[in-house]
Amino acid sequence: NVADHYNDPVSIAVIGGTGLQSLPHFTHVATLKPSTPWGTPSSPISILHHPSPSTGKPIPIAFISRHGLHHELAPHEVPARANIAALRHLGVRTIIAFSAVGSLQEEIKPRDFVVPDQIIDRTKGIRPFTFFEGGMVGHVGFADPFDNKVGKIVRQCGHSLEGEGVRLHDKGTIICMEGPQFSTRAESNMYRSWGGSVINMSALPEAKLAKEAEIAYQMICMSTDYDCWHDSGDVTVEMVMGNMKANAENARRFVGAVLDELSKEEHNEVVLAKHLEGEMKFAGGLT
Ligand code: ADE
Repeated sequence: NVADHYNDPVSIAVIGGTGLQSLPHFTHVATLKPSTPWGTPSSPISILHHPSPSTGKPIPIAFISRHGLHHELAPHEVPARANIAALRHLGVRTIIAFSAVGSLQEEIKPRDFVVPDQIIDRTKGIRPFTFFEGGMVGHVGFADPFDNKVGKIVRQCGHSLEGEGVRLHDKGTIICMEGPQFSTRAESNMYRSWGGSVINMSALPEAKLAKEAEIAYQMICMSTDYDCWHDSGDVTVEMVMGNMKANAENARRFVGAVLDELSKEEHNEVVLAKHLEGEMKFAGGLT
């Protein structure tokens, strides 16, 4: 009995990445197929109900699968503006985004989790990357691409699962490359020399668009390989998918723990991103 509409505001969303294409332990109450001025989202939006641990009341969570229901969208084809606009239209103010990443550091082993705090943009400018164009000019601050308040909660949740096999690195710099090809060895070594911790193809423009939409955004990364700088063998899709599958249950538990925590009443202000309200007002030139 899954409805095709949902009328209450939804504050929290999860954008699932490779290997995290659904959240099966939640009650699925609606499937939405919105369209936006920027096109249709990557996948239908599932509204899931999750009982708040503090009140027992069901908290709605919106879920989008970034690469489509059947992983049919390459990283440069993901309609990131439609995804962010559709979520924002539902009322979403906090996004937990999941991503499989390659590791650029020895100590970040395959299957380790990283809650990153920085990004270096190595996309090629071919993805639509802003809502501000066509007569509407805006420049949003992006010094801290992730939300510190949501990030703090995510880190605490990750650490609470450490006894159960989750290994977590509290910070890190994501190199977001264009793809879909993986890096050359020279590039991989250069990214290491730049201080990159992990590499993916999905953090951007998603994080920039969330910032423009005044949404508190935090990515959770799961390492699936050592990219190609490491002498353990060059990254392949099989390697990425194999590690992702092997650790999918931990990924779901991690996201589940974060949603449990975010659903508590004490985090209402953070989840509603009250601290971001009006950011764009000072972002210049809005007409
Ligand atoms: N996603 C997972 N592993 C990756 C890698 N090595 N490079 C880019 N994106 C990735």
